[in-house]
Formats: sequence, C-alpha cells, structure tokens
Amino acid sequence: MAFEKIDHVGIAVPDLDAAVAAYERLTGLRPAHRQAVETDGVEAVMFEVGESRIELLGSTRADSKIAGFLAKRGGGLHHVAYGVADVQQSLDELAALGLRLLDTCPRRGAAGRLVAFLHPSAGGGVLTELCQPDRGAAGS
Ligand code: CO
Repeated sequence: MAFEKIDHVGIAVPDLDAAVAAYERLTGLRPAHRQAVETDGVEAVMFEVGESRIELLGSTRADSKIAGFLAKRGGGLHHVAYGVADVQQSLDELAALGLRLLDTCPRRGAAGRLVAFLHPSAGGGVLTELCQPDRGAAGS
C-alpha cells in the first residue's frame, strides 16, 4: 500500500507564539487549528497551505515528546507526515519490510487524526509520521 500524499510537515519550535507570528507573515495565512496533545506534552498549530499543511510544534512540559529534539537542535524540521488509507495496515507492511517503528499501532494525534511514527532511520534521518483521517471524530 503506497503513501497517498504528503499530509503535512512538522516543525518543532522553541516559542510557539513567535513561530505562529512568523508563519503568518511568511505564508500570508492564519492558523487553521490549534490543539494541545496532553499525552505528548505538545501543542500543535496547523497552517493549511493548499492541499498540504505546516504543523508547528511547541513543547508544553520538560518531558514532552519534542523536548529532547529542541534541546539538541533548537528547533527545525521534526517530521514529514504521509497520508495513508489505513495506518495499521501500513505499519504492518513496513514492519514486515524490516523498517523500525516507534508505534506498533495508531494513536490519536492533533485534529482528530490517527497517527503513528517510524524511527528516523526509516526516512534518511527524518522522523516519518503516518496519518489517516479519523472518521469518528468531529472537525478536520
Ligand atoms: Co504531525
């Protein structure tokens, strides 16, 4: 099962409000969506750019999912997210190919989507996210 599109590009930032202002200037757009994902200690802001999106990620606590990344790199390209029809099926197929997974089953991400991550070794050093719209959730 092939990837269908690049759903979004995730960028980790040390100051979310400053980054939102910068991306408003850069893109001429307003954010479409803002949501804290408590389980990850992350707050995500989505800019819709045509069919794709930019996801700005800020850390909300010291042990968040991106705290280590921010400490090491100070921010920047964090992940590339691909849209797939079925995250679980894609994970199973990629695992069968010997790729290293960070999630063996999908979980709920921002904007009511089912998401899962592959280890950066699968994507040339960049974290890979798989995502699929959750038909049971409200919103996008
Ligand atoms: Co993402």
